[in-house]
Amino acid sequence: MERTFLAIKPDGVQRGLVSEIIGRLEKKGFTLVGLKLLKPSRELAEQHYDVHRERPFFAGLVEFITSGPVVAMVWEGDGVIASARKLIGATNPLNAEPGTIRGDLGINIGRNIIHGSDAPETAQKEVALWFKDEELVNWQPELTRWLRE
Ligand code: RTP
Ligand code: MG
Repeated sequence: MERTFLAIKPDGVQRGLVSEIIGRLEKKGFTLVGLKLLKPSRELAEQHYDVHRERPFFAGLVEFITSGPVVAMVWEGDGVIASARKLIGATNPLNAEPGTIRGDLGINIGRNIIHGSDAPETAQKEVALWFKDEELVNWQPELTRWLRE
């Protein structure tokens, strides 16, 4: 079953948006299989955003992600990687459609509330970076037959 890595960034946690965001994913029908609150180390943040290492915003981004609690999550479901990106919306919240998390709840690219893996390879890499195997729970929601034909 497809899995993706999502993380509510320190701004989302500070603003009390944790339940709102988890609620949206639950209501959509995806399954939560990993969940923890942590203050990421610099090493973890730098590895996570390694593709952006040369970008001008990299230092600020790492500073921000390590500044406070992050809610790290793994969600499971058919098509969850692309679908979660759609639920999250465009990187810049001012360009994100209403109805999306960033479109409804944010106004600034450096405070865009949530991270979501952007492709199957990155999802796999990020799940492994943030979670040990034993921290993920394999379970079958009773709701499944009402969500999938
Ligand atoms: P994320 O990785 O956090 O889910 O966001 P994303 O895929 O939508 O955007 P990405 O291009 O991967 O950028 C990673 C994060 O870097 C910050 N950023 N700042 N100041 C800027 O021009 C700028 N561009 C990107 C954002 O916080 C973005 O989420
Ligand atoms: Mg990204």
